[in-house]
Amino acid sequence: KRQDATHKYCPGGTAICFSEFTVAAYNITYRIAIPEVTAAPFDILLQIQAPASVGWAGLAWGGKMSSNPLTLGWANGKTAVVSSRWTGGHSLPGAYTGATYTVLPTTTANSTWWQLDVLCKGCSQWAGGSLNPNGVNGLAWAKASRAVTTAASNTSAFSIHDGKAVFSHDFSQAKIPQGVFDAL
Ligand code: HEM
Ligand SMILES: *[C@@H]1O[C@H](CO)[C@@H](O)[C@H](O)[C@H]1NC(C)=O
Ligand SMILES: *[C@@H]1O[C@H](CO)[C@@H](O)[C@H](O)[C@H]1NC(C)=O
Ligand SMILES: *[C@@H]1O[C@H](CO)[C@@H](O)[C@H](O)[C@H]1NC(C)=O
Repeated sequence: KRQDATHKYCPGGTAICFSEFTVAAYNITYRIAIPEVTAAPFDILLQIQAPASVGWAGLAWGGKMSSNPLTLGWANGKTAVVSSRWTGGHSLPGAYTGATYTVLPTTTANSTWWQLDVLCKGCSQWAGGSLNPNGVNGLAWAKASRAVTTAASNTSAFSIHDGKAVFSHDFSQAKIPQGVFDAL
C-alpha cells in the first residue's frame, strides 16, 4: 500500500524548511530539501532521524529496491554513517559510486536517537530514472532492527529489512532558496 503523508517542517533557528515523511510504526522520519530548480539533476539535503533501536534505515530514490540509488544510514557511536548503495536485484546492495555525500556536522547519535544529515550529489538522476523537483515522486523506505555488521564502515554488510514501503513525496514542498542551500 502506498503511504502518502508528506508535509512541510521548518525547525526553529534555521532558514531550512524540509518536506518530511514519518514512518509512524517505527518513528523514523525522513526530511528532504532541494534547491529551487525546475529539472534534475539537483542536490538533495536528506535528514534521517530514527530511534536507537533501528539498526539501519534508508531510502530508495526510484521507489524500488533495484536499479536506483539507495541511501542508508546507521548509528556509529556518537555519530551516524551514510552508505551509498545500488543493487540489480533483491540481495545485499553493493557500493554505488554514482552518488556522493557530504555528511553535515549536525549528524549525531545518543542512547535513544540517531540523526543523519547529508547532502547528496547523484541521488536525483541515475541510469534509468530521475526525480521531478516540481511535484510528487514515488520513493521507498526500508529499515531493519538488527545492527549492521561493522558500524564504522560505510561498506559494511547488513541484514534484510524487517519493514519497507513505497510512499509519495512532494518535492515541490521541499524547495529552499539556492543561497540557503549553497551555505550548507
Ligand atoms: C541485505 C540487504 C537486502 C536484502 C537481502 C533484500 C531483499 C529483498 C527481497 C527478497 C525483497 C522481495 C521480497 C519482499 O518483498 O520482501 C525485497 C524487496 C524490497 N526491498 Fe530489499 N533487501 C535488502 C536491502 C534493501 C535496502 C537497503 C532497501 C532500500 C533502502 C531495500 C528496499 C526494498 C523495497 C522497497 C522492496 C519492495 C519493492 C521492491 O521489490 O523493489 N532493500 N528486498
Ligand atoms: C515517537 O517519538 C515520539 C517523540 O520522541 C514519542 O513521543 C512517541 O511515543 C514515539 N512513538 C513510537 C511509536 O515509538
Ligand atoms: C564511503 O566513504 C568514502 C569516504 O567518504 C566514500 O568515498 C565512499 O564513496 C563511501 N562508500 C559508500 C559505499 O558509501
Ligand atoms: C538524543 O538525540 C535526539 C536527536 O538529536 C535529541 O532530541 C535528544 O534530546 C537526545 N537525547 C539525549 C539524552 O541526549
